[in-house]
Amino acid sequence: MDAAKEEFLRDFGEHYGYPNGPKSVDQIRATEFKRLQLQDLVYLDHAGATLYSDLQMESVFNDLTTNLYANPHSQSDSSSATLDIVKNARQQVLDYCNASPKEYKCIFTSGATAALKLVGEAFPWSCNSSFMYTMENHNSVLGIREYALGQGAAAIAVDIEGELHPEISGETITTKISPHQVQRRKVAGSLKEEPTGDVYNLFAFPSECNFSGLRFDLDLVKIIKEDSSKILGISSVCQSGQWMVLIDAAKGCATMPPDLSKYPADFVAISFYKLFGYPTGLGALIVRNDAAKLLKKTYFSGGTVSASIADIDFIKRREGIEELFEDGTVSFLSIVSIRHGFKILNSLTVSAISRHIASLALYTRKMLLAMRHGNGSSVCILYGHHNSMKLCHEMGPIISFNLKRPDGSWYGYREVEKLASLSGIQLRTGCFCNPGACAKYLGLSHLDLISNTEAGHVCWDDLDIINGKPVGAVRISFGYMSTYEDVKKFVDFVASSFMSPQIHIDHGNQMKGLDKGFVDTGYYLKSITIYPIKSCGGFSASSWPLSNNGLTHDREWILKSLTGEILTQKKVPEMGFISTFIDLSQGMLFVESPRCEERLQIRLESDVYGVIEEIELYGQRYEVYSYDNETNSWFSEAIGKTCSLLRYSSFDQDFMLNKIKGAATCRDPKNKLNFANEAQFLLVSEESVSDLNRRLSSDVQKGIYGKVMQVSASRFRPNLVVSGGRPYAEDGWRYIRIGNKYFSSLGGCNRCQIINLTINAGQVQKSNEPLATLASYRRVKQGKILFGILLKHVSIDGEQQKGDFWLHVGQDVHPD
Ligand SMILES: Cc1ncc(COP(=O)(O)O)c(C=O)c1O
Repeated sequence: MDAAKEEFLRDFGEHYGYPNGPKSVDQIRATEFKRLQLQDLVYLDHAGATLYSDLQMESVFNDLTTNLYANPHSQSDSSSATLDIVKNARQQVLDYCNASPKEYKCIFTSGATAALKLVGEAFPWSCNSSFMYTMENHNSVLGIREYALGQGAAAIAVDIEGELHPEISGETITTKISPHQVQRRKVAGSLKEEPTGDVYNLFAFPSECNFSGLRFDLDLVKIIKEDSSKILGISSVCQSGQWMVLIDAAKGCATMPPDLSKYPADFVAISFYKLFGYPTGLGALIVRNDAAKLLKKTYFSGGTVSASIADIDFIKRREGIEELFEDGTVSFLSIVSIRHGFKILNSLTVSAISRHIASLALYTRKMLLAMRHGNGSSVCILYGHHNSMKLCHEMGPIISFNLKRPDGSWYGYREVEKLASLSGIQLRTGCFCNPGACAKYLGLSHLDLISNTEAGHVCWDDLDIINGKPVGAVRISFGYMSTYEDVKKFVDFVASSFMSPQIHIDHGNQMKGLDKGFVDTGYYLKSITIYPIKSCGGFSASSWPLSNNGLTHDREWILKSLTGEILTQKKVPEMGFISTFIDLSQGMLFVESPRCEERLQIRLESDVYGVIEEIELYGQRYEVYSYDNETNSWFSEAIGKTCSLLRYSSFDQDFMLNKIKGAATCRDPKNKLNFANEAQFLLVSEESVSDLNRRLSSDVQKGIYGKVMQVSASRFRPNLVVSGGRPYAEDGWRYIRIGNKYFSSLGGCNRCQIINLTINAGQVQKSNEPLATLASYRRVKQGKILFGILLKHVSIDGEQQKGDFWLHVGQDVHPD
């Protein structure tokens, strides 16, 4: 055991790893989550969805394959047996939250969101009601405000803080509720009326904030429901009525379910995939009987109606609370499956799970907060952990943060995510559907939020920093099966990828650690490679002609799936098995695949089937020719997926320029392109490849990766490989001449996981390399990892007339 783990166990051993449980966390991982080890993955997105265990799934499988479950609305024996299990499942859910069946009911829904929506839809809103909610809330809670505002009620976000009273003995902390502005919509006939009848207000908060991990003190339930002086009158609109409380426990429930015998909330929303990974699409609303009676159901359906007459306005609804709200047939096979999940939680016990994950979260926070750059500045800024006065007892197993460079600028969270994924670490980034917490912790004003939206920022996009400020964060979260080793790998990853021992980092086209002493030599063209079919194998030629679009016939063909998607190796690695060759003198493209007996021959001039289609690729519109069934079947067999071959015919520049400005990835929109992503040519330097290989072998010597991996230039799918000079000299080239042809550089080529794919003995293999090593020294500020440069051909007067369109291997290459 390493010294760091020993120290961790000294501090947390009492709580970590289920010391008194039926199995230790290491045994659980080794036997029930083998898939993590096999794929060498560190999964840290349990707040997104936690993982199901092998044992749980085996039990589900055995249960479903042994027993006969039938629609619980039918009358057969198997239906009533199913109904009994559904009843038991309801009880199990109530037990989990310590809710007495005399006071509460469990309504099954399709998830926490559906449970929250049900409350919003059926709540007895009036124009005298208020919907009050903490700033830290999921969009699925904020959405309730549409129902409230739509019926003339007021909506108010609040901040909850503890106020210290040293004057009172024992330094009492009391709750302070600070309202934001009142939101109200003009709804016909909703001008503030004198209260008529009962007024009901709703207060909503999460038991654990899914942005920061902050756990709200559940005493809030009693404070809101019983001490109305706290809440009535904090705003001009909250003057009367009865308060009801909704707890969004979708996140918190996994490790700390609310104890409803102590905190009698009216509504609690949960989701089962957050508890034990499976099933998805099933949640529950736990509702107090007296609160349920106030809900107004509009829709009726099979399941919720006792009788209806088709052609007159007559219905009789069912009377049981569950029956009244569960429209249609409940998801009975999923409901049957939850007992296998609960069994696992119960065997470990929720309190042991809570202590286990708390030890991991505490340790990780400590490690992240301690991380410093060489100049002493903090690497990690954590959110939601500073104000001990907040009404939160503890933090849940979520850590949200952003990372800073030594100069105080921010690393984009997408960059962190991309690099984490290269290291096999799965985490989540963005605002996690919690815009209030995001704005609060990141200090984003309304103006910032609106201008970010105007700058085109939407949830899940790649815009992570706008005007120098992060618009979201990185989030890691733990589950009951998370281990110290997961944390260690994550902390080591942050330290090695983002902590700078030196005071200065050059974020341009880095030359960090380059050996001195390279001698500038002359450059020459080492190879020319043409890739006729996008994403398939290419072939090399000693001489090759240029066309208006780049190298003649380069990426002139593509494969399209049945659904219209243009296929690449990213999704269909088998495309790498297809090899191609063009014989210009025969006017023929030859295509081979180990999966097809026959070699395919496609005439360059006349084999075109004739039908012209239009497709869009990377924001550009192309006209393409299609081929006959025989050709398409050949390719479908070669890649194991139905597809069709298409050939470039023409390219609609106006479409790209005018219609989808932002979406186009092409570097030089005025230039003609075949199906190349960004530019006509990609150039790679042999010296840069050698430098990368030196780094790859020194990583192995340092014991960072298992075995020596060396890459050849072809891994980067270049059209042109040049030899000579210093590594990465090409980064600085603006123009180059090859023989008598001129090219201008469009900048560095951004690399993705495709360079990590290799074909070995007919199998596609994935690894983290060489992208992980490239990421360590070729990363530029926006998180792009550059290798090689993109070029476009620049026609010089007279070149055409001379009729010399050819590039030749061995030609001199003259930069600038
Ligand atoms: C706090 C919180 N509330 C609500 C939801 C929505 O839950 P569901 O996906 O079950 O609809 C989530 C999901 O991430 C959540 O974390």
